[in-house]
Amino acid sequence: MLLSTFARASFSLLIFGVVEAANNSTIDGHSRARIIENAKKDGIDLAQFNWTNAAIAEIERVREDVLPLPDFSKATKIDTHSHIIPDFYKTLLQANLLSNHVPIWTLQDHLAYKSANGISRSVVSISTPGANIFAGDAAQNSAVARLTNEFMFALAETYPERFSFLANTPLPYVEESLVEARYALDQLNSSGIGVMSSHEGQYHGSKAFARFYEYLDTKSTGVFYHPTVPLREINGELIEAYPSYGFVFAPFDFLFDTARNIMNMTAAHTMRDNRNLRFGFAHCGGAFASVADRYFSSPVYGPTESWENYAGIFQTRAFFDTAGPMFPHAVQGLFGYDIPTSKFIYGTDFPYSGQSQNVSGALLNALIDNSDLFSGDEKKTIYESNAKAFVDI
Ligand SMILES: *[C@@H]1O[C@H](CO)[C@@H](O)[C@H](O)[C@H]1NC(C)=O
Ligand SMILES: *[C@@H]1O[C@H](CO)[C@@H](O)[C@H](O)[C@H]1NC(C)=O
Ligand SMILES: *[C@@H]1O[C@H](CO)[C@@H](O)[C@H](O)[C@H]1NC(C)=O
Ligand SMILES: *[C@@H]1O[C@H](CO)[C@@H](O)[C@H](O)[C@H]1NC(C)=O
Ligand SMILES: *[C@@H]1O[C@H](CO)[C@@H](O)[C@H](O)[C@H]1NC(C)=O
Ligand SMILES: *[C@@H]1O[C@H](CO)[C@@H](O)[C@H](O)[C@H]1NC(C)=O
Repeated sequence: MLLSTFARASFSLLIFGVVEAANNSTIDGHSRARIIENAKKDGIDLAQFNWTNAAIAEIERVREDVLPLPDFSKATKIDTHSHIIPDFYKTLLQANLLSNHVPIWTLQDHLAYKSANGISRSVVSISTPGANIFAGDAAQNSAVARLTNEFMFALAETYPERFSFLANTPLPYVEESLVEARYALDQLNSSGIGVMSSHEGQYHGSKAFARFYEYLDTKSTGVFYHPTVPLREINGELIEAYPSYGFVFAPFDFLFDTARNIMNMTAAHTMRDNRNLRFGFAHCGGAFASVADRYFSSPVYGPTESWENYAGIFQTRAFFDTAGPMFPHAVQGLFGYDIPTSKFIYGTDFPYSGQSQNVSGALLNALIDNSDLFSGDEKKTIYESNAKAFVDI
């Protein structure tokens, strides 16, 4: 346990302090009170949880403790797949036993990594499990989504040249997620939406998500699908349904959950029916390229679900990131489906890549730089411009 009994007691006292005397000290009009009141307007009562006070203080520190920047004069890349891990979020993960592989993240390290690897802008998001720290608890997951979004907003406002973000949502709670997406897109200037490959057992083709997608479609936004450990409901309880026991989940089963989700969305016509959306799939779409032929040629689904019906969607509105690393075989798999080079986007998976998988930024860049699968001009667009067709940056 991270917090002593004493620390917990003072933590709760602080919470009541916040509620009674809204601290309206603001920096550029952004205050503790704004965060609390906007949340309340959206039906999120931050005062009921014993961790939100520390979260808001950490968000305020982003604006107050502005760091000196390293050298960005040679930085041109846009990183569409990198993560922030605020202390409050990490503490929640650890307290809820989801802490096996949570890397260390600091803003200073992130800026140094960007500078060292030529990354000008990072479009940050929250990694697994997103807001689903409290499985089954819509109210608490909504608070996690809101405060991680406020944290990323503070980062993007404080370092506007260096950070944009994809908003976290409390899926599978659809009404709450709709409210959160609206707030993030309209008021926090988020560049798109970041979701997990599955949420408490639901994939994105789930009929239950239809209203969420209808809303997002009206916003013509980009949605980034990040892999996670799938859950299943067994006897009324949500348990990890992670079949590849014995493997570390991130480099193996994540690729399968990504493929399961893409096939689920395809089968449910989520991609076809939401014509204004762009879809970003992490790690080159995981195992998608290996299973798609089998799926599209299956007598159960075909011929109405033939690849020809879907090729246009995958070739125009789907994007595949380089995090992993997924060179060279997964890239060639996607070429097999005529995915154009304009649909590959640069992603590093910082800070997970280096700490969980020992893939340094230099190694990842070298894989792209030395690849003979793309021309020099194509590599430049993967690094610098393809992302602009995916998310609003
Ligand atoms: C917050 O409350 C939960 C129970 O709702 C408890 O398990 C946890 O230890 C508390 N954390 C702190 C920091 O007080
Ligand atoms: C904080 O600001 C809000 C408006 O944003 C106002 O309604 C409230 O009275 C203020 N609270 C304090 C303690 O100043
Ligand atoms: C308001 O919050 C700021 C920073 O979080 C702190 O420095 C200040 O002392 C607080 N003011 C009051 C009146 O609590
Ligand atoms: C997609 O997954 C959901 C579970 O999340 C399931 O209910 C639905 O039947 C699946 N859709 C298709 C078309 O496979
Ligand atoms: C990480 O990679 C570096 C260079 O690629 C290598 O020298 C080092 O031994 C690796 N560390 C681990 C723990 O695998
Ligand atoms: C919104 O974010 C983008 C970068 O993601 C930035 O270029 C733009 O200036 C921001 N707009 C506002 C109003 O903050």
